[in-house]
Amino acid sequence: MEFSTDTLNRALELARLGEGHTRPNPPVGAMLFTARGKCIGEGYHRKAGENHAEVEAIEDWKRRNPKSKPDTLLVTLEPCSKPGKVGACTDAIILAGIKHVTYLCTDPNPKNRNKAHDALAAYGITCKHLPCEEAEALIRPFAKRVKTGIPYVTVKLAMTLDGKIADNWGDGKWISSEESRIATGKLRERVDAIMVGAGTVRKDDPSLLSHGKPNPDLVRVVVSRSGRLPAEAQIFMDGKNRTLVFDNPHTALVELGRMGMNHVLCEGGATLATSLVELGVVDEWLTVLCPKVIGERHIRDAAVLGAGKLKDLHICLRV
Ligand SMILES: NC(=O)c1ccc[n+]([C@@H]2O[C@H](COP(=O)([O-])OP(=O)(O)OC[C@H]3O[C@@H](n4cnc5c(N)ncnc54)[C@H](OP(=O)(O)O)[C@@H]3O)[C@@H](O)[C@H]2O)c1
Ligand SMILES: [Zn+2]
Repeated sequence: MEFSTDTLNRALELARLGEGHTRPNPPVGAMLFTARGKCIGEGYHRKAGENHAEVEAIEDWKRRNPKSKPDTLLVTLEPCSKPGKVGACTDAIILAGIKHVTYLCTDPNPKNRNKAHDALAAYGITCKHLPCEEAEALIRPFAKRVKTGIPYVTVKLAMTLDGKIADNWGDGKWISSEESRIATGKLRERVDAIMVGAGTVRKDDPSLLSHGKPNPDLVRVVVSRSGRLPAEAQIFMDGKNRTLVFDNPHTALVELGRMGMNHVLCEGGATLATSLVELGVVDEWLTVLCPKVIGERHIRDAAVLGAGKLKDLHICLRV
């Protein structure tokens, strides 16, 4: 069966619904079709220990379209073939009477990698890999942790046109636009942990939470050699998400990896970001370039290029 771009995008969209919630597993989406190409089931992996996407799609079919006959399964990641916390998806596929499976990227986990084909072929089920860059991108954090034990690290910093991430008084809180801050909030929804250095906590007292839908699975992480942290800081006092403190970034990442975290977003400042780059653990650097010039002024008095007509530029460098 051929899949349209819209169908592939829908499968990816389903997978993205799980981002930030599935650790130590990756986000995965799945769709089930009849032989005539009608979609009769959809699903995604919501949380470790709960159904994998394939089983969610099968259950959805049974609930909504029990009279239709499933023929082809489209899944963003190669189905697992060894039972883990839940049964193997290849077994569920066999039991559901599915005839064809197409997956968009291979499983980086050696336990399952390139194993689905043989497990399904024994039952006459065809299993095809249709390479898809977006699907690969979606599991990049999971792949890095599985291969190295360390989470995928995205560093994000907002910068003015004159190259400043804070003014001379250390105020770096309101450099980017409201729109960029909303985009950052969305990024926070997709990761497992937000990390900052103690300097940022002492200066900015950030909440490190998404402004939109709260994600109770998100963990806040502070790195401080001195342990000099204000007890009244929001991240300790707001009673919301968990906050962990580590005395160096390497220990932090090893421990977060051991806890199964796939993706860590570092939101500054420059001292911690420098350490992470020196450690060679940064996978992605996101600069939010803001059309402002600070010079020697306070951030609130920055000169604005284009008098509000220009938007922040989001520049992503991937290692
Ligand atoms: N524009 C932006 O996107 C943005 C984002 C964040 C922050 N900022 C600005 O950045 C400024 C703060 O800068 P900063 O460089 O001081 O912030 P920082 O990197 O958040 O904090 C530095 C502190 O983190 C700890 N740390 C960093 N690397 C470490 C390592 N390798 N081992 C152990 N501890 C380590 C140390 O804490 P201890 O001193 O406790 O040992 C260090 O003093 C603020 O003005 C803030 O507004 C701007
Ligand atoms: Zn599975």
